[in-house]
Amino acid sequence: MKEIKLFVLFSGNGSNLENLYHTLHNQTLQTPKEEVQIKFIGALSNNAKAYGIKRCQSLELPCQILPHQSYPNRQSYDEALIKHITPHSPDFVILSGFMRILTSSFVNAFRCINIHPSYLPNHKGAYAIKDSFEDLNFNYGGVSVHYVNEELDGGKIILQEKLDKTPYPTLEKFEAAIHQLEYSLYPQAIKQAIKEMQ
Ligand code: GRF
Repeated sequence: MKEIKLFVLFSGNGSNLENLYHTLHNQTLQTPKEEVQIKFIGALSNNAKAYGIKRCQSLELPCQILPHQSYPNRQSYDEALIKHITPHSPDFVILSGFMRILTSSFVNAFRCINIHPSYLPNHKGAYAIKDSFEDLNFNYGGVSVHYVNEELDGGKIILQEKLDKTPYPTLEKFEAAIHQLEYSLYPQAIKQAIKEMQ
C-alpha cells in the first residue's frame, strides 16, 4: 500500500504533534485514487529545550534538533532545514507550533500545512488566542488549518471552525478549549489534504 509520509516541525510543547501521532500514525485512508497508509517519518525542532523532544522520544519518532541561532539569517537557516528534510522525501511537512516564518525557498520545496489558533484571517501572529479572547469585535475565536505560503498565516484554508467565547470566563479556560478544538481539527484537516493531494 502506498505510504503518505509526514514530517513534523515544532518549537515547543508538542501537544499537537503527540495528538497527531496517536490519531494518524499507521492509519489507512481511502483517497479518490487508492488506499494509503499514513506514516510519521520524523520531526525537527529549532529549539533544543522544546518539551516536544521528550514526546518524540516516548513515541520513538526520530527527532533532529537544528537551532536557528547558529545561522546568520532566515535564508541560510531554511536552506539547512531543506537539506535535513529532503532525504526523508515527505509528502507533507506538518508545522505544529513551529514559531518561525518560512522563506519562499522552504515553502516551495515541500507541501506545508500549519495550524493557527484563530478563525483566520482574524488574529494572525504569535498571540492569536489572547488577541481573539480580548477582541470585543468578535464573540468567537477559532482554529484554522491551512496550506503554507510566504505570507504569515496566509495560505489557502483546508478546514476552520469557530469557537464561541461566551462559555469561557477566563483566558486560561478559553485557551484550553482552543487546544481541544485543535486536537480534533488538525487530524481531520490533514486527512482532507491527503485526499486532495495531486
Ligand atoms: C498551537 O496552539 C498551535 O495552534 C500554534 O502553536 C501551538 C502549539 O502547541 N501554532 P503545541 O506545541 O502543539 O502544544
